[in-house]
Amino acid sequence: MTPHNEAKKEDISNIVIMPGDPLRAKYIAENFLENAHLVNSVRNIYAYTGEYKNKKITVMASGMGNPSIGIYSYELFKLYDVDYIIRIGTAGAYAEDLDLLDLVLVEKSFSESSYAKLQNGNTDNLIESSNLLNYCIEETANKLNFKIKKGIVHCSDVFYSDVSDYKKLKKEHNCIAIEMESFALFHNAKILNKNAACILSISDSFVKEGILSPDERQTSLNNMIKLALESACNIK
Ligand code: HPA
Repeated sequence: MTPHNEAKKEDISNIVIMPGDPLRAKYIAENFLENAHLVNSVRNIYAYTGEYKNKKITVMASGMGNPSIGIYSYELFKLYDVDYIIRIGTAGAYAEDLDLLDLVLVEKSFSESSYAKLQNGNTDNLIESSNLLNYCIEETANKLNFKIKKGIVHCSDVFYSDVSDYKKLKKEHNCIAIEMESFALFHNAKILNKNAACILSISDSFVKEGILSPDERQTSLNNMIKLALESACNIK
């Protein structure tokens, strides 16, 4: 147990699916897992463990931003012996060829965040996700006939920024979309010799107009959840 997680070690699977929102963790447990039980509710950061196609899986929320996912993913990797974390979340598109509801597999995370620097002195701005997990996710997406686009995302510490320049981030760093958690997650996986991946659904765009209906959002969300869970079953 930790100050942030009351689950027993044996109640957490070595594979964790990690949405940002605790209610999304609950939704996944209730709609996709068998025999799911709540194993953490400290700060309402729900974690549920159950089975998907007979495979033990934990779904745990990360909260928003690098500091929050930094705490939970570090503890899962380091203290709960978790080997794989697949983050699922939403992102804002920077690239013109990304449409609302598209699924993105994050190859690398670019960030101005001080998370890695403050964690172990690493001043890199770019961190890769796990090749092993990405391979698995791509293969699974092909089997499911889901289209995924791969690329670098901008992982920002600030949602309401007056100075962030998406055109520059796109041009100079090849960022195709923005979210707020992949950098700390990938950093923790790297330093602890574990595997992390991130699948995102495009929920808004900096370059295209459009609003999603609740039904469209739900379908895209369900596809992303299915892709994460099926990929978890295909980890070799
Ligand atoms: N900024 C940061 N994170 C996000 C966004 C955004 O515009 N959209 C979805 N996640």
